[in-house]
Amino acid sequence: MASSGGPLGVLCALREELAVHIAELDHDETVDVAGMRFHRGRIDGQEVVLVLAGMGKVNAAIAATLLIARFKARCLVFSGVAGGLDPALSIGDVIIAEHVIQHDAGYTAADGFVPYQPGFLPFFNPTDALGLSAHAALLARARLALEALTLAPLSQAAGGAGRAPGIHFARILTGDQFVASEPLRERLHREFSAAAVEMEGAAMAQVCEAFGVPWLVIRVLSDLAGRDSHMDFAAFGAEVSLACSRILRTLLPVLSAP
Ligand code: ADE
Repeated sequence: MASSGGPLGVLCALREELAVHIAELDHDETVDVAGMRFHRGRIDGQEVVLVLAGMGKVNAAIAATLLIARFKARCLVFSGVAGGLDPALSIGDVIIAEHVIQHDAGYTAADGFVPYQPGFLPFFNPTDALGLSAHAALLARARLALEALTLAPLSQAAGGAGRAPGIHFARILTGDQFVASEPLRERLHREFSAAAVEMEGAAMAQVCEAFGVPWLVIRVLSDLAGRDSHMDFAAFGAEVSLACSRILRTLLPVLSAP
């Protein structure tokens, strides 16, 4: 991996997402920069810096840049909730990104929107690339580490019905919009073959790629991105976020290896 030494940087968008990691933190200090509070300390003896970045791609980019340039993070993880795009998935299932795409970046032609790699345009500086892939060796180690992990079933209210949530490796989409529309969910799933949608992961990954720092996006589904997704998101966000803490702690030895 590109960098060694330095803490693991963990970004969350929402208080509920951060709270599950703060609860496990041996706290050393807090540092406020750019309106964001960075919590430096250790989880299970591993050096970490946690930050509440806020929602959206620009917030994720600011927090990621600060974690790398100022806090010298050697690897970044985005941890939080997402909306499910694949109808085979349920609330509570965990998706770890193999690949991320900014689904709202591109150009609009007469026949509609065409996604394109951020920072590029086909008629200006063309590229065949679309999205970013997570570091293959890091993903392989994560798969191995998570093989034996069983997550606790969700409450009945969240539709748990005794089933342990699944852990999947798949594509995640990022855009500056909350998806609460069945037609859009269906289009995003069909056009991108993606499992989940959120608002920050690919922006963090873009910053990491610029600095040569490895990254991972861990998302647990709070909703299924359809008509009721804003209500499910509000009702289940805190409960499902607990899985992110289990996953992060299981992965800490892998993420801390040189
Ligand atoms: N994060 C959680 N649910 C989401 C959704 N439906 N759309 C975008 N980001 C989300």
